[in-house]
Amino acid sequence: MIIGITKEIRAKETRVAATPETIKKMTAWGATVLLEKDAGIKAGFTNEAYQEAGAEIISSAQEVYQKADIILKICAPEPEEFAYFHPGQILIADFKALSKPEKIVDYAKLKLTCFSLDLLPRISRAQTMDILSSQNNLAGYKAVLNAVNLLGKAVPMMMTAAGTIAPAKVLVLGAGVAGLQAIATAKRLGAQVFASDVRPAVKEQVESLGGKFLQVETDAELETASGYAKETSADYQKRQTAAVAEQLKKTDIVITTAQIPGKAAPRLISAEMLSLMSKGGVIIDMATDSGGNVEGAIDGQTIEKDGIIIQGNSNLAAELPQSASRLFANNLYNFLAPMYHKEQQKISFDFADALIKATCICKDGQIMKKE
Ligand code: NAI
Repeated sequence: MIIGITKEIRAKETRVAATPETIKKMTAWGATVLLEKDAGIKAGFTNEAYQEAGAEIISSAQEVYQKADIILKICAPEPEEFAYFHPGQILIADFKALSKPEKIVDYAKLKLTCFSLDLLPRISRAQTMDILSSQNNLAGYKAVLNAVNLLGKAVPMMMTAAGTIAPAKVLVLGAGVAGLQAIATAKRLGAQVFASDVRPAVKEQVESLGGKFLQVETDAELETASGYAKETSADYQKRQTAAVAEQLKKTDIVITTAQIPGKAAPRLISAEMLSLMSKGGVIIDMATDSGGNVEGAIDGQTIEKDGIIIQGNSNLAAELPQSASRLFANNLYNFLAPMYHKEQQKISFDFADALIKATCICKDGQIMKKE
């Protein structure tokens, strides 16, 4: 049983799919772990630390891919990696299976078996494996830090001999995992925080963190049975736009996180609405990989428009590579661990298991359709 970990090659990716801690646990199973040299350097994990944990350091990604039975990755493989895979190989990663379903055909053609951890159901048993929660929680925190660094104002209220500075006002649109952490972080820094979401259950969570909830009245059921948001009607959007516009007039920082799985992100701030904010205001749009919540926001770029600084950033977890890798690697280990059978000293996947079924996007080259 050979498990392989390579350096992520996607632009700006800094994370690594295993830490010395998870490698120690996997080698304790009797697995051989091959790690591409310097795979963890950007996240602060040295080759020596991995070696001490039991990994074999291999100088080329090609060799790791050729020898490994199971590959643990952060991102879906890039086309230049395709040539290295072999039929029957198992890949576990964040394939972004809902937003990029067309790519599954490529993995199927390579006759791979792939598990995409972004498809895990949000149930208690899956919590320790939940990459969306572990990464979005860090991303929500980092979004606030980035915004605060770009803002020319202090965040907390300051009463000094030279005068009083009012606390900055932060608006969080979409209060799921990332949004709730953004609210908590902004509160800890002393901001006044406002938040909105289409799911009514969120109101209580926002208030428990000290935020003020902006309610958009509706009779529509905007939450799916699995807890995700639904698309909103034109009428709802009109009322939501009016509420957001009113709030923007008194907002210094906006963090947008609104997503609908498998669909384009809802547009919450139009180009015209930007002029409602005071000059120097900052917006961080975390949904730019699925179209963005803010008109004009560009993924991976910080731009200025009408005096407002807009950062499009859908991979904020990669700006905290050490923490993000630790949690992602734990998620991967926790997914794999129940599949390790001690008596036979091997990993075998139980395709009747709900979590395996939900995450398997292709099996030995066959695309696994989801209901
Ligand atoms: P997400 O990343 O899909 O979306 C972010 C937020 O945007 C959500 O709160 C969503 O309701 C909101 N949103 C969507 N459209 C919007 C719009 N037009 N206007 C305003 N807000 C909008 O969501 P995330 O963070 O992945 O959470 C999804 C669900 O999963 C939530 O119910 C969360 O509580 C639940 N969850 C459950 C866990 C569990 O283990 N039980 C763990 C983590 C999350």
